[in-house]
Amino acid sequence: MLVLGIESSCDETGVALVESRGAGLPTLRGQALHTQIDMHQAYGGVVPELASRDHIRRVLPLTEAVLRDTGARLSDLDVVAYTRGPGLAGALLVGAGVACALGAALGKPVLGVHHLEGHLLSPFLGSDPPQFPFIALLVSGGHTQLMEVGGVGRYTLLGETIDDAAGEAFDKSAKLMGLGYPGGPALSRLAGQGNPSAFKLPRPLLHSGDLDFSFAGLKTAVLTQAKKLGDELEARKADLAASTQAAIVEVLVRKSVAALDRTGLRRIVIAGGVGANTSLRAELNAACARRGATVHYPELEFCTDNGAMIAMAAAMRLQSGREQANFDYAFDVKPRWGLDSLAGAAGQ
Ligand code: KG4
Ligand code: ZN
Repeated sequence: MLVLGIESSCDETGVALVESRGAGLPTLRGQALHTQIDMHQAYGGVVPELASRDHIRRVLPLTEAVLRDTGARLSDLDVVAYTRGPGLAGALLVGAGVACALGAALGKPVLGVHHLEGHLLSPFLGSDPPQFPFIALLVSGGHTQLMEVGGVGRYTLLGETIDDAAGEAFDKSAKLMGLGYPGGPALSRLAGQGNPSAFKLPRPLLHSGDLDFSFAGLKTAVLTQAKKLGDELEARKADLAASTQAAIVEVLVRKSVAALDRTGLRRIVIAGGVGANTSLRAELNAACARRGATVHYPELEFCTDNGAMIAMAAAMRLQSGREQANFDYAFDVKPRWGLDSLAGAAGQ
C-alpha cells in the first residue's frame, strides 16, 4: 500500500511517500520539503497569511518531485493523507484541500492525520525504532507534552505546559537577545560558547509534584536579566543564552525522568523541533543511562516538521486497523485538537 502524506500546518511544506507491506514497519520511499523560514525571518515570526500562500505555491511541485524521485505514478497511490490539525487554519486548509482534490480526482480514499501523532511516531522512520509502550516527550514550537504511548492511537496525556511551549521559550528568549527567527537553533548555537551557570534563572514547576510545565515566567526573567545587563548584554549574550537553555533543559529532563519513574516504563521518545537540541539530548541521555532507560530520537531531519512523519503516521494507523481511509472529500481541519482525543473514536 502506498500512502502519500502532505504536511502544511505551519511554516514547512512537506510531502512524502511511505509504503506498507503486510505487518512490517512501513518504509519511507521518498520525501520533499520546503521551509519558509527565510520568508518569515523578516517579520520575526510566522505570518499565517503568507504561510498559506506559500504552501499553495509549493505543494504540487513538491508532490511532483516525490513522484519523480520514487518513480511512482499518481495512479499508484492507495491513500492520500494530510495534516488535519492542530496548526494554522489557513495553512492546514491548503494541504487538506490539495489532498482531498487529489483523492477525488484519483478516486482514492483520504485520511486526516494529527500533526502531533506524526511527531510522536517519527522515530519509526529512523534506524532505531522504539518498541511500545514508551513515554513520549513532545517538544515543539506550539506544544510541550508528556504522553504515555501504549501503541498506535493509544495515548494518555501525563502532563503539559500551562502556558508557553518549550520551543516558544527558546524562540522568545532568542528574540529578546536579538537572535532572529526561529530562535531555538540560534540560541542553542550561542549557548555552546557560554557558561550555563552564569545567571540564576527560574526552573518553573520543577518541584510541583506533577508533570506539568510552565515557561512564560522564564521569558520574563530573561528579559529582566537582559535589561539589568544593559550595555553589557552584548558581551554576556552567550552566558545568558547558556543559562536560558540550561533552565529549559533541566525542567524537561527532570519531568521526563519523573514520567519514567511514575509509569515504570523504561523507554522514552523525544519528538518535535526542540528534540534537535544537543544539550537536551546529552542531558537526557545521561539521566536515562543512570536509570537503565533508553532514549529514542527521530533522525535530525525528522525532528522538525516534514511530510514523512504524516505519511508514516497514516500508514501505521491504517495498519493497526484503528482507522480506515475514507471517501469523504468534504474535508474540515482542526486548528486546535488534543492528541489524547485520538484514543477515543477514530478521526473525531
Ligand atoms: O516541531 P517544530 O518544527 O514545529 C512545530 O510543530 O512547532 O518545532 C519548531 C520549534 C521552534 O520553536 C524552534 O525554535 C525549535 O523547535 N527548535 C529548537 C532547535 N531546533 C528547533 N530549539 C532548541 N534547540 C534546537 N536545536
Ligand atoms: Zn511540528
